[in-house]
Amino acid sequence: MRSVLVIDDNHAVCTALEILLSLQGLRVLTASGPAPGLAVLERETVDLVIQDMNFRRDLTSGEEGVALFHGIKRRFPDVPVVLLTAWTHLETAIELVKAGAADYIGKPWDDARLLTTVRNLLQLRSALVESAALKSRRIAARDALAGKYDLRGAVYESDAMHALVGMATQVAAADVPVLITGPNGSGKEVLADIIQANSSCRGGPFVKVNAGALPPELIESELFGVENGAYTGAKARAGRFEAADEGTLFLDEIGNLSPAGQAKLLRVLQTGEFERLGSNVTRRVRVRVLSATNTDLAQAIQAGRFREDLYYRINVIELKVPALSERREDIVCLARHFLGPDFELEPEAERTLTAYAWPGNVRELSNTIQRAKLLADNKVISAQALGLKLTTPLGDPRTGEPDRFEIEHALTRSGGIVARAARELGLSRQALYRRMDKLGLRDPAQEARQE
Ligand SMILES: Nc1ncnc2c1ncn2[C@@H]1O[C@H](COP(=O)(O)OP(=O)(O)OP(=O)(O)O)[C@@H](O)[C@H]1O
Ligand SMILES: [Mg+2]
Repeated sequence: MRSVLVIDDNHAVCTALEILLSLQGLRVLTASGPAPGLAVLERETVDLVIQDMNFRRDLTSGEEGVALFHGIKRRFPDVPVVLLTAWTHLETAIELVKAGAADYIGKPWDDARLLTTVRNLLQLRSALVESAALKSRRIAARDALAGKYDLRGAVYESDAMHALVGMATQVAAADVPVLITGPNGSGKEVLADIIQANSSCRGGPFVKVNAGALPPELIESELFGVENGAYTGAKARAGRFEAADEGTLFLDEIGNLSPAGQAKLLRVLQTGEFERLGSNVTRRVRVRVLSATNTDLAQAIQAGRFREDLYYRINVIELKVPALSERREDIVCLARHFLGPDFELEPEAERTLTAYAWPGNVRELSNTIQRAKLLADNKVISAQALGLKLTTPLGDPRTGEPDRFEIEHALTRSGGIVARAARELGLSRQALYRRMDKLGLRDPAQEARQE
């Protein structure tokens, strides 16, 4: 059961709130002034404080309330505080909201509005506690993995990447071919690096071939080598398979391989055997092959451009890297990583980064940040400095409604101060509360009663 502490010298106020809130299934504690109020906070777990601004008839400046508020924030910074204030002291209350009060309610209050505020703040608090716990669990899980494996400095916070990197470290030990798929710039090579770094052949050579960067007729000689005179002017040289012997070969853009190249690749994968171009000497290698592609190989098979038997051979394990827009928890931590320790992001810049679609994925994010760093006048990157065009513009008036992710981020950044989060999202406080309701950020106590 959640606890609300009411601090008011007026006994009638305490009693009225006690009845009102108890009926909502809340545990209500009361205190008649600052000192007993702080004593309750020391003693009990309190989820929300509702405090008066004046505690003596002869003192109506609100100074005592201000001091109490700061006293609570200093010692219990995570507990939301709602100010109960006479309308004549509204300015003081607004000042305190800027200083971190969760909200204020005018005396005499409207029961329905007070309940809405209390309910929303309690559910917000549990959502924040939950998302903070989730985030620290994610970071702990990543750290645990990084303690056991070499993650090659990969940066991520999303569950999707955690699972994927975990899988990469698992398959690293098994000596099987791995196919890494995913859109442009999403981090396929980063995954290949992780697999290689944790494999049993990590001590051997690590050779990378980008089949997308070579004309099809050259890929074959690049991979398998040539003999003198194999074609006009050909000089004998070893190919990449020979160079990768006892190690790992990373074949990027494997969809670009010519039919002849595909046939040779299939054979070397099956038997370890191949011949250089223009040679009938069969050579043997032991190579772990990792391949990557951002084209749809299944479709290439349908179209007759890719051999099905080769597909099954390279694809014993498939690791699918999601687009950056499908793991938005990674955007800000990657941006900070690319910025380095000397630069900061303005909150608006973080929001823009998070809302942008990133068709070029992590590579585009990296380029965007490098450009912003070059153009920045100081060490703080503004939204404008990013030069991103959002399809749904942010700010006031909003065209799109913020989703759960945006709301949680805004609330985390504002330290749970609803008014500040609402301003950042370009919404009124009430609109933000309504939106939270709609997104099913529900109050568990209320749900229990409805059942
Ligand atoms: N999780 C990550 N942590 C840190 N850097 C990353 C991460 N993912 C990607 N990068 C960086 O983003 C850039 C693009 O990543 P990478 O080259 O691995 O993508 P890719 O999927 O292989 O791209 P392409 O489709 O163009 O081959 C690289 O500079 C890489 O270092
Ligand atoms: Mg790549």
